[in-house]
Amino acid sequence: MSDNVTAINHMTRRRSLKYGPLALVTGASDGIGREFARELARRGYGLIIVARRSDRLEALAEELASAHGVAVDVLPCDLSQPDQVEELIRTTAHYDIGLLVAAAGYGTSGPFTRIPVETELDMIDVNCRAVVQISHAMAKRFVRRGSGGMVLMSSLLAFQGVAQSANYAATKAFIQTFAEGLRAELRPQGIDVIACAPGPIASGFATRANLVMGMSQPASVVAAATLNALGRRGTIRPGLLAKALEASFTGMPRWGRTLILSKIMAGMARGPSRKEDSDTALSSGKPSLNPVDPI
Ligand SMILES: NC(=O)c1ccc[n+]([C@@H]2O[C@H](COP(=O)([O-])OP(=O)(O)OC[C@H]3O[C@@H](n4cnc5c(N)ncnc54)[C@H](OP(=O)(O)O)[C@@H]3O)[C@@H](O)[C@H]2O)c1
Repeated sequence: MSDNVTAINHMTRRRSLKYGPLALVTGASDGIGREFARELARRGYGLIIVARRSDRLEALAEELASAHGVAVDVLPCDLSQPDQVEELIRTTAHYDIGLLVAAAGYGTSGPFTRIPVETELDMIDVNCRAVVQISHAMAKRFVRRGSGGMVLMSSLLAFQGVAQSANYAATKAFIQTFAEGLRAELRPQGIDVIACAPGPIASGFATRANLVMGMSQPASVVAAATLNALGRRGTIRPGLLAKALEASFTGMPRWGRTLILSKIMAGMARGPSRKEDSDTALSSGKPSLNPVDPI
């Protein structure tokens, strides 16, 4: 075990924290994950923070160590690469981690056929595959230690299909279902799992997904509320916006939710060919049996 690992385990073991002493936070270089890291540091957790942009992680580690006196280790990792995830799991084997916050993830928007399939598959790797891979390793450790907590990022979009974001919504439906099942299975073994399903949050998400969010809430509305609900609830919709949107859907059939959220998504998506697609469809004139797209 490295001196660094010994030091981080030792520094944080002094405090009594429900899921302590250490938390592993993925997606900590921006948005929701970064706010989780800040909130956990405020509560006295030592941290292992993960994302690809190591400069941002280093800056956050410095900020948290000086503001809260907690130990923070930076582990850069591209979670779309299963071998890098495996390496992350190996590296963290000697850390006494009691809490996983799996916040790394991203979305796409716009016509499904215009987004490269590689991007969609990469998104499944980051949003789903890596989450399962890391959750599996952590769950085994938590079962051995008889306690632990997991925060998995779902979304408002997880509860119905959504046009112009079909694959992203499906990745979040996967996480929502995964979290619900894990919660039921692991609870008797002292492990708490929560699905966190926010509405629109101002973060790096919109830029990467090529969206313009008309309404959004700051990322800070997510972390404290979710951590407070862990162990008490299976799903949380943090923030007034998520709660208001959910309330407006109450009693609505699933197809109705799809219709409304698809319209909202179409208004937010900035995909360059969105208009082009509908124009082509509308102006195609007489029916033809010729294949349009020879793939
Ligand atoms: N913002 C919203 O409106 C919203 C709503 C509901 C749910 N969510 C979910 O909340 C989670 C966090 O999103 P956010 O809003 O905080 O977005 P964000 O500001 O863009 O942050 C995304 C984080 O994920 C990391 N990440 C992305 N791809 C990665 C990769 N291949 N390997 C490692 N790390 C990667 C990014 O780090 P690097 O780029 O440095 O790698 C970044 O730290 C996501 O799962 C998202 O689906 C967001």
